[in-house]
Formats: sequence, structure tokens, C-alpha cells
Amino acid sequence: MPLLDADFEFIRGLVHRESGIALGEEKGYLVKSRLTPLITDKFQTFRSLVQHMRSKPNDPIKHQVIDLMTTNESWFFRDLWPFECLKEFVFPQIAAKKGADRSLNIWSAACSTGQEPYSLAMTVREAGNSIGGWSTSILATDISLTVLEQAKQGKFTKAETFRGLTATQQTRFFTSEGSNLVATEDIRGLIEFKQINLSKTWPRIPQMDVIFLRNVLIYFDVPTKEEIIRKAVRLLNPGGFLFLGGGETMVNIQTDLVPVSFKKNQFFQRGG
Ligand SMILES: C[S@@+](CC[C@H](N)C(=O)[O-])C[C@H]1O[C@@H](n2cnc3c(N)ncnc32)[C@H](O)[C@@H]1O
Repeated sequence: MPLLDADFEFIRGLVHRESGIALGEEKGYLVKSRLTPLITDKFQTFRSLVQHMRSKPNDPIKHQVIDLMTTNESWFFRDLWPFECLKEFVFPQIAAKKGADRSLNIWSAACSTGQEPYSLAMTVREAGNSIGGWSTSILATDISLTVLEQAKQGKFTKAETFRGLTATQQTRFFTSEGSNLVATEDIRGLIEFKQINLSKTWPRIPQMDVIFLRNVLIYFDVPTKEEIIRKAVRLLNPGGFLFLGGGETMVNIQTDLVPVSFKKNQFFQRGG
């Protein structure tokens, strides 16, 4: 099924405007493969789909287009070191700093199908003394309602849980349901799921002690990245921590973040 250059340009512009995702000029093949599920009896060609969106700019079909254009790959304890770092370095520091205020706010800002926020919840439970008994809240957000719905259910195939979880974690934090594993009430109870589009105005979000903004900045152009990082930094409590994905950088943004090293990896701490 052909995708005309003009139609590709229209979709590229729409995706950028609505989500901040910057599709390169060579990404026509990706648009074609991702949007094929929308080519049905109603829209039999990309041409008719685009013509419809041009004539009805507020039609909800555009949300399906954005949703399909997001890349949602994720797995439990991705890269492992950020979670070790929380247990060994970040939580003890926060505990020492906050003292009597025994509360911890964490944001998983592009949570996809939930592996990241559930890994954060398991890390909180495994952390032991430093933050034991604290009131902990994990905000898990994404632009895609499809992945959020999946994440909320906390249901994963065995293959998904084999990717990153130890046998002990599977037994402690999941129960079997047919061929799936379901997260226990205990870890689900720590997480609140919500749709937030990082590239648009953010709703009111509480100040955070830790922000995971991982493996999402790679999809944005530099001005969008800069704006999102600036806003994330403002949301951090003084002394709070920001984690980016492997290979994601602060570009050249001037912020009051200080780089911190952990086992040859880098994350960031807000001054104060
Ligand atoms: C590759 S996943 C990363 C998941 C997780 N953070 C990890 O590191 O495993 C990227 C996620 O970013 C989300 N995303 C893309 N653009 C977004 C935006 N403008 N606002 C919020 N989330 C967005 C996608 O829907 C997708 O679920």
C-alpha cells in the first residue's frame, strides 16, 4: 500500500505537533507499518485516512495515530544499575536528608507497559532499612492510553517476567493467573497511573524526590528535550535525583543539576 510523500509529511507534522516525537525523513516505512492496523473498511488507503484527518482535524482518530507511532519496548529492571543505585545510594541519602518527613515521591515519566514503575515499587520494597515504613507514592505516566491500560492491569506473560526478574522476585511480587503473572496488591498499591503528554502543558504534579525520564528523550528534537528537562528539574525537590536512559544526555542545558557517578554510570542530582 503506497504512502504518498505529501501524506507522510502530514503525518510527520501531526505526530510532532501532538507528541513531540520527531520522525526523520527516512521513516516512511515505519509510518506505513505502524499505521497499517488503521487501514480497514473505513479507510482503505493511507490517502483516505490522511484526507479524513485533514478535513476533520479534531477527530479522535489522530490519538490512535499518535498511540500507534509510540515505541513502547520496556523490561523489568532495565539496565539494572539505576535500581541498584536507588537502593545503595539514593534512598539512604534521601532518608538522611528528609529525616522526620518520611515520604518518598517517585515519577516514572514514560512508563510504557509498566515494567519500570513495578520495578521501582519492587526496589522500594527490597530497600530495607533506609526507607522502611515510609509513605511512598509512584506516579507512572505515558502519552499512550493503550500501554497505560496494560500497565494498570499489572498482568505480564511469563516471557515478559523472565526478562529482568529473578525467580525470587517473581514469587514475592507476583501471583500466577493462567499463563500470566499478576503483580501483587502490595506493589500495585504504590503506583498511580495517569496520562501525561510530556510535550504539552503538564497538569499539577507533586514535587518529586526521584524522576525516571528514561528512553523517551531519544524520540524528541533538541528544543523539545530541553524544555522537558527544564520542567522536570523544576519538579525535583532540592537534593532530588534525575535518571535518564543509557545514551541519553542533558544536551547542553544549563540547569542546577550536578552529575553523579555510580558504577561508571551517570545520573543527576538537583542542588540544595
Ligand atoms: C521505549 S518506552 C520507555 C519505557 C521505559 N521508560 C523504559 O525505559 O523501559 C518510551 C515510552 O515513551 C512514551 N512517550 C513517547 N512520547 C511521549 C510523550 N510526548 N509524552 C509521554 N510519553 C511519551 C511512549 O508511549 C513509550 O511508552
